[in-house]
Amino acid sequence: MKNVIAMDGPAASGKTTIGRMLAERLGYLFLDTGFMYRAVTLAALQRGVDVVDETAVTHLSTTIEIGARPPAAEEQDGRFYTALLDNQDITWAIRAPEVDANVSQVASYPGVRAEMVRQQRTFAAKGHCVMVGRDIGTVVLPNAPLKLYITASAEERARRRWHDRHQQGHAASYEAILADVVRRDKIDSSREHSPLRPADDAIIIDTTGRLPQEILEEILNMR
Ligand code: CDP
Repeated sequence: MKNVIAMDGPAASGKTTIGRMLAERLGYLFLDTGFMYRAVTLAALQRGVDVVDETAVTHLSTTIEIGARPPAAEEQDGRFYTALLDNQDITWAIRAPEVDANVSQVASYPGVRAEMVRQQRTFAAKGHCVMVGRDIGTVVLPNAPLKLYITASAEERARRRWHDRHQQGHAASYEAILADVVRRDKIDSSREHSPLRPADDAIIIDTTGRLPQEILEEILNMR
């Protein structure tokens, strides 16, 4: 698969920020696959589908339409894209703490993953894209010519997430965010299907104490 860059890593490692910058610099499309698992989770919460009911959540994931498009003129509120669930704007709703609390459970279901992976591969088939997630280099695009695994210490990742959430108007404490990040990483890395791990041929980049711009230059120099 040509002209695709696979980026994986734990929660709030900076992969989305760096991936977006990289796509912009190269003129590539960008897909943050985490938003898709968040959208399925939100759909379950909104419709009263119990997130521990694997059959029901899996069925739900095949019946909803998840999409993303550039923000419209009246939507310029700091978002990078507008996330859609059956044509409803869910951009900020998918960042709520209830979604953080349930998304790793939903993402552990193989049927949900199969449906998301199918959609992700369709997106990548056009080429020229940066795709970010947990299993992009290992499962979704195993033939990607460049695979990056972006990580940072849990404390630094929680600090960054605390900053994002406060800007978005959520008053979660640093301790609660650190606990969520550590808990999700544990579920994501230990799940049976498509666990979070670097692909054997991934380049590992630790972003602790480093600026995104610096990392971007390092990646551009690898190509
Ligand atoms: O932004 P953050 O790093 O907190 O998470 P995200 O990328 O929005 O992903 C949210 C959750 O979706 C993760 O904790 C995983 O459980 C799941 N996910 C996944 O399983 N596979 C992916 N390719 C992307 C996300």
